[in-house]
Amino acid sequence: YADRLAPPAPPWWRQRREELLQLAQQQGPCYVYDLASVRARARALRGLLAPDRWFYALKANSHDEVLRCIAAEGLGLECVSLAELERAAQFVDSSRLLFTPNFAPRDEYAAAFARGARVTLDNLHPLQHWGETFRGRDIILRVDLGSGRGHHDKVRTGGAGSKFGLSLDQLDEFHALARGLDLAVVGLHAHLGSGILDAGHWREVYAQLAALAQRFGRIEAINIGGGLGVPARPGDAPLDLAALDAFLCEIKTAYPQFQLWLEPGRYLVAEAGVLLARVTQTKRKGEYRYVGVDTGMNSLIRPALYEAWHEIVNLSRCDEPATTLYQVVGPICESGDVLGTNRRLPACQDGDVLLIAQAGAYGATMASHYNLRAPATECVV
Ligand code: LLP
Repeated sequence: YADRLAPPAPPWWRQRREELLQLAQQQGPCYVYDLASVRARARALRGLLAPDRWFYALKANSHDEVLRCIAAEGLGLECVSLAELERAAQFVDSSRLLFTPNFAPRDEYAAAFARGARVTLDNLHPLQHWGETFRGRDIILRVDLGSGRGHHDKVRTGGAGSKFGLSLDQLDEFHALARGLDLAVVGLHAHLGSGILDAGHWREVYAQLAALAQRFGRIEAINIGGGLGVPARPGDAPLDLAALDAFLCEIKTAYPQFQLWLEPGRYLVAEAGVLLARVTQTKRKGEYRYVGVDTGMNSLIRPALYEAWHEIVNLSRCDEPATTLYQVVGPICESGDVLGTNRRLPACQDGDVLLIAQAGAYGATMASHYNLRAPATECVV
């Protein structure tokens, strides 16, 4: 594993400083994605021995070139809306489409079946009320294993307080409905949350789903979800892919009858993307110094929503000493419009380009037009 999984240090953007400075001056606020980094991540994942199939969760980043790159590496695409499914179908054939929605309307399930996608259900309601859409189909069942995990409460998708997954105490009812509709459950799925750095997590999920599979007739695939994290804060250890593979190989030996599927998003794209923004104004107020840039939570909502930490660099002054402690803020009319708190940077001047790192996942896909400010554009290098 050592060669294949060597960490990519230093980050790609350090070597492309001039190019990025030019892009920011020409384009205004923009996301830049490094396709070589995406490809390297896809290859690292595809190099693991245990998983049989990978589906990239395109909610993390659905830029066309990113999707083209990931599709070319042989991964499938995991979609959660009809629009995602339609985007994905431009890059992979139907055998590589996985539809895993939550509280979707009936017509989206019907459209997914019509496209030949694999469909995941996580509720009784569709079978109780829309039986004819599901009669005679093969489906995957998403269950709630009772707990969630992840970098923030808002991204944990298990347990009674979460809207995802079928509760295990409804399994008998599910079986009865499925029998009545001649429906076959051919896969089991669980995704407990996002931003998990402990490789042992997926072993536990796999073990629980494999044990549960005994209660079904013909399970072919076990989908242990996504959630593969990247170091979020200085000092976080990266996810140990080799350990993950070893754990999965070990448990696969116990359950060789199932195909093993995973559906990561962040892991493939987070570190491949940066957000570039230009300094508009600086301000001192009380003990605080603010540096304002020309885009904020309308482009990158993660700090506001999850208190997520993104490294910030003054790209125009990389060689100058970091002398000043700043609150890095955007131009949006909300106090939460902060990109980074307490960041020591070289003294910033009007027009400097700040780089916000690790912004390739859940950046542009979660952007908005709040305050009628267009979010950052996207481009690839
Ligand atoms: N599978 C399912 C069913 C999911 O709901 C998700 C993410 C994934 C896979 C991919 O998870 P990943 O490998 O990217 O962690 N906006 C948040 C993350 C929300 C994730 C939603 N579901 C953030 O910026 O941290």
